[in-house]
Amino acid sequence: MRIRVLGSAAGGGFPQWNCGCPNCRGVREAVIAATPRTQESVAVSADGEAWFLLNASPEIRQQIESFPPLHPRRPRHSPIQGIVLTNGDLDHCLGLLSLRESHPLVVYATERVRRGFTEGNVLYRTLQRFSEQVTWRDLKPGREDALLRQDGAPSGLALEAVALPGKLPIHLEGQAPPDPEDNIGLRLREVRTGRVLAYLPAVAAVTGAVREALEGADCVFFDGTFWSSDELPALALGPKRAEEMAHLPVGGPGGSLEALAGLGASRRILIHVNNTNPLLRDDSPERAAARARGWEVARDGMDIDL
Ligand code: MLT
Ligand code: MN
Ligand code: ZN
Repeated sequence: MRIRVLGSAAGGGFPQWNCGCPNCRGVREAVIAATPRTQESVAVSADGEAWFLLNASPEIRQQIESFPPLHPRRPRHSPIQGIVLTNGDLDHCLGLLSLRESHPLVVYATERVRRGFTEGNVLYRTLQRFSEQVTWRDLKPGREDALLRQDGAPSGLALEAVALPGKLPIHLEGQAPPDPEDNIGLRLREVRTGRVLAYLPAVAAVTGAVREALEGADCVFFDGTFWSSDELPALALGPKRAEEMAHLPVGGPGGSLEALAGLGASRRILIHVNNTNPLLRDDSPERAAARARGWEVARDGMDIDL
């Protein structure tokens, strides 16, 4: 399985347009050891020809351009066979509206995420320019589905969704009761080799379901949004603690480094990293602590051959 990190930052990217925190200022002025990052999205393929995107970030155009295997091979064409959504957050979905140039799209999502994006959303009409412009394929937690190419041929990948502790996107809070299918993790299995990628970019707590989603995976991508619970309040950037935003912090007692000690995967990668996170600094003690536990921090352009 080929895996390419197109974007590795949380919502807002790094640096974020309205942020003057030490990390954002430092990376703009090139005075810290850190690299800019676009918002989270990953491309996967079994054969290097047919690609699937995990999430559609607001920076999707630039991300597609950054990776030649995603470029068209003919006057109207895309190697992107489908897009899988892990939740309805705008940093995961807004890119769909950018893919509006009358190209048929296949989107895999839970019914909850599909309805959250399509219902009452007048902008969705831009993806209804012709019948079947978007084909939605429902993901049901606990069921494995073959990922098909748009011509109906097998892609060599199978996908299982796992319901994870998370939350509704901010713009839908109070509009619908929370539901287990608001936020999922993905287990992608390459049929030929049996190798498994577990992709969990938003995780509010390490539960039994989270452990099952990670079980036996060869490569794990995990929520790396915040290092500490009070990261935003401590920088006077907002009142919310990490847990209130449904992101388990990476560091500290009960954080994901501690909770996931003993994970067997040979590659363990933190993704959806918020611009305030000290993990973004290549020389920070937090980065060293993650490395000591066997964790890498995702960066844009990272390639993995699984
Ligand atoms: C999140 O990951 O918590 C959300 O993307 C936050 C947001 O939508 O701003
Ligand atoms: Mn996000
Ligand atoms: Zn910042």
